[in-house]
Amino acid sequence: MHTKRLRNTKQDIEAAGKMIASGGIVAIPTETVYGLGANALNPTAVKNIFLAKGRPQDNPLIVHISRPEQIVPLVQTVSQPAQKLMDVFWPGPLTIILPKTEQVPVETSGGLDTVAVRLPEHPVARAVIEAAGVPVAAPSANTSGLPSPTTAQRVIEDMDGKIDAVLDGGACRVGVESTVVSLAAPVPRLLRPGGVTLEQLEAVLGHVEVDPAVFARLEEGEKAASPGMKYKHYSPRAEVVIIKSSFPAYKQYVEDAAATEERIYALCFTGEEKQLSVPAFPYGAEHDEAEQARLLFDALRKLDDAGAKKVYARCPGRAGVGMAVYNRLIRAAAYQVVDLDARFILGLTGPTGAGKSYVANQLQQLGFYVVDADRIARSLTQKGSPLLPQLERTFGKGILLDGVLDRKELARRAFQDETHQKMLNEIIHPAVIQRAKEEIEDFSKKGYTKFVLDVPLLFESGMDTMCHQTVSVLADEAIRKRRILSRDGLTETQARQRLQIQKPDSFYQTRSDKVLWNVEEEGKDRLLHEIKQIVTFK
Ligand code: TXA
Ligand code: MG
Repeated sequence: MHTKRLRNTKQDIEAAGKMIASGGIVAIPTETVYGLGANALNPTAVKNIFLAKGRPQDNPLIVHISRPEQIVPLVQTVSQPAQKLMDVFWPGPLTIILPKTEQVPVETSGGLDTVAVRLPEHPVARAVIEAAGVPVAAPSANTSGLPSPTTAQRVIEDMDGKIDAVLDGGACRVGVESTVVSLAAPVPRLLRPGGVTLEQLEAVLGHVEVDPAVFARLEEGEKAASPGMKYKHYSPRAEVVIIKSSFPAYKQYVEDAAATEERIYALCFTGEEKQLSVPAFPYGAEHDEAEQARLLFDALRKLDDAGAKKVYARCPGRAGVGMAVYNRLIRAAAYQVVDLDARFILGLTGPTGAGKSYVANQLQQLGFYVVDADRIARSLTQKGSPLLPQLERTFGKGILLDGVLDRKELARRAFQDETHQKMLNEIIHPAVIQRAKEEIEDFSKKGYTKFVLDVPLLFESGMDTMCHQTVSVLADEAIRKRRILSRDGLTETQARQRLQIQKPDSFYQTRSDKVLWNVEEEGKDRLLHEIKQIVTFK
C-alpha cells in the first residue's frame, strides 16, 4: 500500500476525512501524540488498525469526537461527573470511560462493555473528525510496544506502507498520551496519567483512585482495569534503567558502567549532557515536567537511532504531569529502577571462625542482599572459567586436573609465601570485584537497596572503598578454634596453623567503622541488638 503524505491544508484535511469515512486509516496529529484514525463504528476498519499496529485484539481503542454532544449515542448516560469533566477539560488531553451502547462495535471496545471517549484539542484532529462525519477510533500511531510518535516523521518510520495516509500537523504539544479516567465504577479511577493531572481531576471530581498499574507491574494473572496496561509499552530496543539519585551520583554510576560495558547512553535532564562523558540525550529540564513529557518519546527513539544498547535514565519527579512522564518511563525501563539514594552497602569482614556468616545471615533476614566473595571466587574458578588458564600460567601445571581446579594444590602453591599469595590475589580480586558489582546492579534493578559485601579480604582487596560502612566480626581465639575444628573437620595442629596466618584483631579494629564481638549462645541477644542498630543508624 502506498502511504500518502498529506499536509495541514483545507483540501488535505477533507481528503483525510473522506479516506476515514470510506474505511481507510489515516494518521492524524493530536495535541498528545499522533493517532491512527479510522471509523470507530466500522468493524473492518477497526480490525485494520490492529493489524497495522500489531496490537493485541483485546486492547480497546479510544473513540475521538469533534463536538461534546457526539458522546451521547456512544454511552449509556452522560453522568454528572462525566459532564463536569467534559465542561472543564474538553477539548483537551482527557479520555473518559463510560458504559457503552450497542452502537460501539466489540472490535472497538476490545470486548468490554465500556467505551473510552475523547475530544481532542488539536484543530487538525477535530477538523478531520468533522470531515469524516463519524467518530474516529485512534490509538497512538506507533507499532505496538514502541514509543508513541510525536511527529509525522516518526509515524512514517513505523507505518509507511501499512496505512492510507499520514497528515503532517507538526510536533505534538503534550507529547504523552491523554489522561484516561474511568467513570464506569462508583469511585472515579485514574487508569493512565497524562496531560490532565490527578490534582486537576480531583479539583473537579473529589477523590480519584489511582489504579495500581500506574506505578507497578501487574502480577502474573492479575486483571488489568485498562487492558493496555498489561502490555509492554513505550520501549525502545535498548535496555533502559532508571537511576534515582542526585546528578553527581548518577554521573559516577553511568561513567563507571561505561568503563566496562559498550554502547552505554544517558537519558538526562537538559544541560547535563555537557557534563557527561558518555553520549547523552536530554529529555527536558529537571523541574519542567511539561517539557519532559513533550520530549520523552522522541528522546527514546533517538537513542535507538544512535544504536544505544543500554540507557541509564535520570528519574523524573512524580508531581503534576511528572506522574505521566514517570509512568511512561518505568514502562520503557520494564520497571528497572535503581535507587542510589537508598542504596547502602555494608562491608563485612573478619578472621576465619569469628562468625561472619552468622552476622551475614542475620542481615539477610533484615532485608539485605548478601554478596558472598567466597561464593563468587568459587564460581569464577569452575571448570571452563577464563581465570583458570591464567592461574595455570602463574602457578604451573598440576593445579588443573582435566580442566578442574585442584583447590588444595593451588592453596599449597599460593600460600607458600607472600609473593605467591599476592600473585593469586592479583588474578582473583579484580574478577571478584567485577562480579560483585554486577551482582549489586542486577539485584538493585530487582528492587534491593541494602547489600552486604561478605569479604574475608575486604581491606586487602580494596573492596572496602565500595562500602558505606565496614564492620569486622571478631571473636576470642578459643571460640574461633572450637568453631573451625567442628566446622572444617581439621586436626588441632591444622586449626592452630590456620589461626596463626590470620591477621591480628588490631588489623580489623583500626580499619573498620565498627567491630562486633561474636560470642557464644548466651551473648546472642546482645549481638542481634547490635546488628539491628547498625541497620537503623546507617
Ligand atoms: O492521547 C491519546 O489518548 C492518543 C491519541 C492518539 O488520542 N491515543 C491513545 O490510544 O493513546 P491508545 O490506544 O494507544 O491507548 C488507549 C488506552 C489503552 O491503554 C487502552 O487499554 C485504554 O486506553 N482503554 C481504551 N478503552 C478502554 C476501556 N473501555 N476500558 C479501559 N481502558 C481502555
Ligand atoms: Mg498507545
